[in-house]
Amino acid sequence: MTGPTEPAALATRVRALLEAHWNPARGYCVPNPFTYPHLWLWDSCFHAVIWAHLGDERAVTELAAVLDGQLDGGLVPHMRYGPQPPDTWLGPLPASSSLAQPPMFGHAARVLAAHGLPVGPKVLDRARRGLDWLWEHRRADDGLLYVVHPWEAGNDHSPRWDDWGAPGRTAADYDRAARSAWNAARVHDLSFAADGAATWSSSFVVKPAAFNAYVAFNLAELADLLADDELAGRARGLAAAADALLWDPAAALWADLPVVGGGPSARIPISDGVMGALVTSDPGKAHAALDQLTLPDRFGAPAGPANVARTHPSYDPGMYWRGAAWPHLNYLFHLALRRWGRDEDAATLAERTRADAVASGWAEYWHAEDGRALGAVPQSWTGLVLAMDER
Ligand code: GLC
Repeated sequence: MTGPTEPAALATRVRALLEAHWNPARGYCVPNPFTYPHLWLWDSCFHAVIWAHLGDERAVTELAAVLDGQLDGGLVPHMRYGPQPPDTWLGPLPASSSLAQPPMFGHAARVLAAHGLPVGPKVLDRARRGLDWLWEHRRADDGLLYVVHPWEAGNDHSPRWDDWGAPGRTAADYDRAARSAWNAARVHDLSFAADGAATWSSSFVVKPAAFNAYVAFNLAELADLLADDELAGRARGLAAAADALLWDPAAALWADLPVVGGGPSARIPISDGVMGALVTSDPGKAHAALDQLTLPDRFGAPAGPANVARTHPSYDPGMYWRGAAWPHLNYLFHLALRRWGRDEDAATLAERTRADAVASGWAEYWHAEDGRALGAVPQSWTGLVLAMDER
């Protein structure tokens, strides 16, 4: 095969992308130097995965940088600030946010080890403590984990959050600036522990299907790496709780469960509701959810998967978290498809994601119908297409 998505050409381009965003003094890549000039937790975990696929030791440095931000109690913050803190207040701490984000460091540590780039005991211990913190401080009596801010879930402007009173519900009345201001104001509703970690909110608490799947997945990945039965048991228990409490048979997706605020929007069909396939032990649920990635009346858009079902009124294929296609989600879908032996579907998704990533100039996300570049361009995590290539 020749052309820009041929493996060697792709690796060269992905290396150039990451190198352009690498800061040697800080030891990590920024997602994009203008839009996102700080460290973001799951972005940097994905960057570490990409470095590992490039066989580059910066994988180890970048994963360590994520965990260097760990607070005294164990929370790994969703952002560590560059030289200038952001304009938005993200909690009482001077150098990092007080919020969680999907803890992809368990998965990253496992990928690095598989590529002959083992992380040291300090990083492994921190990763474990990061997962322990979520387990001890964010787990409800029913066994599910909750988040206290939309930014913690990774998909900040999802239509699933619409019933929390955020402005803009449909493609016609959605206003990104107003929604961002609403999200920023929610930080003032948080309670913080002595070390600065956010523990509760008076206006937004929810048990998101995807966040629970991500935590279970990262517990399972770290458990495998450490051969730790106790962690593996936690992963299985959390996946089982999500199957019992979050599975929505009518939608054939895992739905979110509001705790403080919210309403029926928590069940809007979004592709994050497929992520349970990363961890469930139930083949029926996994296949029913994964099938929807390609069904035209669900997420199966030409440059998809779309992040919101194409037939839902809130579907806006070019809008941030409201329908556009996201490369890091495609990477996770790819892992889930492989886990369930759907190698052909996985290969098709990988091929299309590679083509869309290259054509969009490595965009942060793209229009699910026509592949048009959207958001920050270029964005580091789009290099994940290299890790979707198992040829
Ligand atoms: C946006 C995304 C979030 C990501 C960050 C940096 O806030 O919603 O998931 O981590 O950008 O790329």
